[in-house]
Amino acid sequence: MLKAKSITKIYTGPEGNNKVLDGLDFEGKAGQFCMITGKSGCGKSTLLNVLSCLDTFDSGSLHINGRDVCAIGHRGICKIRRQDIAFIFQGYNLISSLTAQQNVELGLKYRGIKKAQRQAMAHRALCQVDLADRCGYLPNQLSGGQQQRVAIARATVLCPRILFCDEPTGNLDPDSAQLVMQNIISLKEQGTLVVMITHDNSLLPMADRVLRLENGRLTEI
Ligand SMILES: Nc1ncnc2c1ncn2[C@@H]1O[C@H](COP(=O)(O)OP(=O)(O)OP(=O)(O)O)[C@@H](O)[C@H]1O
Ligand SMILES: [Mg+2]
Repeated sequence: MLKAKSITKIYTGPEGNNKVLDGLDFEGKAGQFCMITGKSGCGKSTLLNVLSCLDTFDSGSLHINGRDVCAIGHRGICKIRRQDIAFIFQGYNLISSLTAQQNVELGLKYRGIKKAQRQAMAHRALCQVDLADRCGYLPNQLSGGQQQRVAIARATVLCPRILFCDEPTGNLDPDSAQLVMQNIISLKEQGTLVVMITHDNSLLPMADRVLRLENGRLTEI
């Protein structure tokens, strides 16, 4: 479902070149829950951005659902991102001018789902993260943890084939974190490949695989 081979990613910053990913391999299958750990700054968010086609890489190959992302062009990549991938960002990335409900509906709109149906789906997803009473709020009227839960509803409502999550429980109390993990696990049980970054060691037992990112490569632990 997701196959990365010998991926290299180099940033050019004020201090010169920085090879963040260095010949990295990763393979993920449908219904698998993979967690990725590693020190701050080791390249976890970079890796997720590359695997989800949000960012480019310098060498290597990436196949998603059997398609070579280097060969399908920008339109092909947009199609994969719209239909097969959802992302929960470390910094939420909600659209500030849209309400919680509208943020959750947007991806459904891009998929061509009719208004009444997407309203119902978005409302249900917000209820699942305990935000039934915040649907009409704008992001700046929500707490950090509430925004994070909107971001989670926005991703889970799509039932994506691949879900990428960058610290999805980073800002949540234990009960909310539990709720979010239940939502993510239920997607995995429906066949979603979940690739999640976490610093929270207590979550690691929930994964099928745990990988550590170090020196630009992943090792299974
Ligand atoms: N756009 C960029 N330009 C230059 N360097 C970058 C850029 N984005 C990230 N980096 C560098 O790449 C390295 C990896 O960053 P990244 O955000 O992937 O780390 P991370 O493992 O997600 O860290 P954290 O756990 O703190 O979120 C860092 O040293 C960072 O400074
Ligand atoms: Mg990060």
